[in-house]
Amino acid sequence: MNFKGFNYKNNNLFCEHVSLEDISFEFGTPIYVYSGASIEDAYSQLSSSIADTNTEINFALKANSTLGILSLLSKLGAGADIVSGGELVKALHAKINPQKIVFSGVGKTTEEIKLAIKNGIKQINAESYSEIENIISIANELNTKVPVAIRVNPNISVKTHEKIATGSNDTKFGMPIEETANIYKRLSSEKNIKTMGLAIHIGSQIFDMNEFKLAYLNILSVADSLRQEGFKVPNLDLGGGLGVDYKIAKINFFDYGKTISDVFKGYDYSLSIEPGRSLVANSGILLTKVIYLKKTKSKNFIVVDGAMNDFIRPTLYNAHHNVEPVNLSKGGLEKFDIVGPICETGDYFAKDALLSNTTEGQLLAIFSTGAYGSVMSSMYNSRVPANEILVYNGKVHKLKEQERIEDQISKEILPKF
Ligand SMILES: Cc1ncc(COP(=O)(O)O)c(C=O)c1O
Repeated sequence: MNFKGFNYKNNNLFCEHVSLEDISFEFGTPIYVYSGASIEDAYSQLSSSIADTNTEINFALKANSTLGILSLLSKLGAGADIVSGGELVKALHAKINPQKIVFSGVGKTTEEIKLAIKNGIKQINAESYSEIENIISIANELNTKVPVAIRVNPNISVKTHEKIATGSNDTKFGMPIEETANIYKRLSSEKNIKTMGLAIHIGSQIFDMNEFKLAYLNILSVADSLRQEGFKVPNLDLGGGLGVDYKIAKINFFDYGKTISDVFKGYDYSLSIEPGRSLVANSGILLTKVIYLKKTKSKNFIVVDGAMNDFIRPTLYNAHHNVEPVNLSKGGLEKFDIVGPICETGDYFAKDALLSNTTEGQLLAIFSTGAYGSVMSSMYNSRVPANEILVYNGKVHKLKEQERIEDQISKEILPKF
């Protein structure tokens, strides 16, 4: 195992200097535990990989929008890629510089667009004709210059899960590449629009650098021809999508940065990227406790106290996540399905995981759950989502008050019949 921030000492798993067993005693389970050193390490590897280019890092909040994590990323210098008014409020709350905030997404409402303008964000990445007309009329109504880029759909299919592929014409994202130049010209003619450039995001969990390269070359060619016609195209936003190999915790920051610099060297575009998963996935684990062991004729099950309402990636994307015991002990390996208490067959964290000497009451760590983990949690089965803590700079930081069922009930209204 090679997870920076998570290591065994005397056969017990630690997050940096803190024993996960101690965390379970103090905070209970299930709980997300993040390593700040690991986030710093990922951020610094990514920054170094693009150091020879003029590229801004705008963290995609959709991967993890817990304020404590955002505020660490903000301290490291990250901007934000947001897709809702809620994410905008959270980014601002975490003190992310509004001039480093980019607003993506196909369904921005008038209220959300106005909120973004009021807060002076860097740019809105527009994704349809209707959205563009809406932004123009808002800009005229407010008589303010609004910074707008066009999100281009290059019609590239990528080798990833169909639910996270976003760069082809049969998805809802971006505007067809062949129409981009005309739309850009239309925007440039508006007195209250400041054209900021072009944006692209072809999907998530991408490992083949040629897929990024093809997308970048596409956007570069549209940008160059716009410039040749005299239009201002200052920025190119290259999106996110760098893949995380969840089995071996590997992220190819080096080749990713090299792909960007190979394509854009010699050009004077200012670039931005929108990494989500690659910055935080390996920095978090979900700590959970075994409630029961259960055998059927065909399977051994470990029933744990975490569930798909805490972490849905295995059931949503058939995602693989390594599961390891917090306390290692020697013994023959057995195959188990690791499942939660929710009444769905899809409520599982791992299938046929190999574990030894598993006992009821034991702690397990589900690895690489820092991205698309807590942020996708729900109250399904009237469960309260797992709490979250961050180990950083020698301290344990509690990131939330533990939600209680009473908190949920207090927000509901019992009708009087
Ligand atoms: C527009 C946009 N930018 C960035 C991202 C982040 O992608 P990733 O977490 O794979 O880096 C996404 C993810 O869906 C996205 O839709």
